[in-house]
Amino acid sequence: MTNILVTGGNGQLGNCLKDLSEELSSQYNFIFKSSEELDITDFSSLTSFFESNNLNYCINCAAYTNVDQAEDDKALATSVNVNGVENLSKCCAGNGTVLIHISTDFVFDGESSNPYLEKDETNPINHYGSSKLLGEDMVLSYCEKHFIFRTSWLYSEHNNNFMKTMLKLSKIKDSLNVVWDQIGTPTYAKDLSKLILKIIQNKMDNFGLYHFSNEGVASWYDFAYAIFVETESEIKLLPINTSEYPTRAVRPHFSVLDKSKVKQAFGVEIPHWRLSLKVALKNFQKLN
Ligand SMILES: NC(=O)c1ccc[n+]([C@@H]2O[C@H](COP(=O)([O-])OP(=O)(O)OC[C@H]3O[C@@H](n4cnc5c(N)ncnc54)[C@H](OP(=O)(O)O)[C@@H]3O)[C@@H](O)[C@H]2O)c1
Repeated sequence: MTNILVTGGNGQLGNCLKDLSEELSSQYNFIFKSSEELDITDFSSLTSFFESNNLNYCINCAAYTNVDQAEDDKALATSVNVNGVENLSKCCAGNGTVLIHISTDFVFDGESSNPYLEKDETNPINHYGSSKLLGEDMVLSYCEKHFIFRTSWLYSEHNNNFMKTMLKLSKIKDSLNVVWDQIGTPTYAKDLSKLILKIIQNKMDNFGLYHFSNEGVASWYDFAYAIFVETESEIKLLPINTSEYPTRAVRPHFSVLDKSKVKQAFGVEIPHWRLSLKVALKNFQKLN
């Protein structure tokens, strides 16, 4: 049996993996752990967990993900996104476990106007991005057998995310302002989950750093517009500038990721974000 630990198992990506893992349960032993059950900042608990569970893979979905709060909570964000990842990397290396780690488009400053390649210079502009970049360094330093996937604008039917916030707001508001001058790509967390499971099922070993998002490009305004069109909402949507919606953390204006490397390495066809949005909305409706 292949043993797979999913840290941060109650988060959005963790829950998407949980849904998809059900079909694979006869061949794979998935162990989903919440932050309370397995805290990645606690090295001694991690060490004993790894020693007693003969893990083949660890999918690290655990992270401090509140981008604005991270500006005021720097120590905690660093502790999870850097020290926690260092702990996991050391445990994986020490036990021959493949580490599949998730990072972010926020490692870039957004000054480019071309989709970012893996080899492009990083320059995070907020604490969350800096901590995630240092987390990548920990994986690279301590765990040879790793996959790092930088992804962007994750959403799904689970946990809190932009799609679900828009759906909620459309029920209680007549109009909504959404920024149009931050450009990136929404990514359905189940599409990323499918790639991760494909790698495990096919025992792929082309380790390294990869970019993964859905295909296409959008502003947050475009994303909201598509959500409201798909759900036939009558809410009035107004585009605004980032300067009209100040947030605690600054965000890159452009963070589209180039996916050539991931497509070539794993032979995946990535759906356009508009197609994946329809799937996500259907799955959301099934749950509600
Ligand atoms: N969401 C996005 O838009 C986005 C974009 C790009 C990249 N990413 C990356 O994608 C990954 C998955 O994100 P997500 O959207 O699934 O985030 P999420 O829903 O916030 O899930 C993160 C999970 O990590 C857990 N966690 C926090 N501290 C922990 C600790 N010390 N030990 C163990 N678990 C801990 C959290 O548990 P508690 O809730 O109990 O604290 C939460 O369940 C993250 O690495 C994130 O940085 C996300």
